[in-house]
Amino acid sequence: MLKTDIPTRRGVLALLAAGLMFPSRSVRAETPAMHVHKDPDCGCCGGWVDHLRSAGFSVTVDETSELTAIRKRLRVPPALSSCHTAEVAGYAIEGHVPAEAIRRLLETRPDALGLAVPGMPAGSPGMEGGTPVAYDVMLFTAGGQRPFMRFVGTKSIG
Ligand code: CU
Ligand code: CU
Repeated sequence: MLKTDIPTRRGVLALLAAGLMFPSRSVRAETPAMHVHKDPDCGCCGGWVDHLRSAGFSVTVDETSELTAIRKRLRVPPALSSCHTAEVAGYAIEGHVPAEAIRRLLETRPDALGLAVPGMPAGSPGMEGGTPVAYDVMLFTAGGQRPFMRFVGTKSIG
């Protein structure tokens, strides 16, 4: 009895490990899978989703009114909050973050919780129409935040 028990348990653990490994291996670098939480009535959020898709991301959308709870779960600092919150490869993406910054995040994999563009800067992806302003993409951790990249519109300026 014991002799058959042990391999069975090992087999189950191996299957669990394989199941846990699969999602990260299936995320191809050129088409990272993103899950976006947004309010159903948010227009600029839809514009940002379009920007991601045209940049090659595969995006699923969760229409929700529970954004505050989602931000709390993903540990987005309230001071960095914007209109939508996304998840990619274990990171949180808050607000109108350009695809280029998300790609750099996924390439460099910093030890952090995620990226944020606080507020809704004019000219950021999904916020077209006004006069574009310079804005920072912030990298945030459990302990703080620092500028990660700077943009005007979708163009990186540092
Ligand atoms: Cu917005
Ligand atoms: Cu939004």
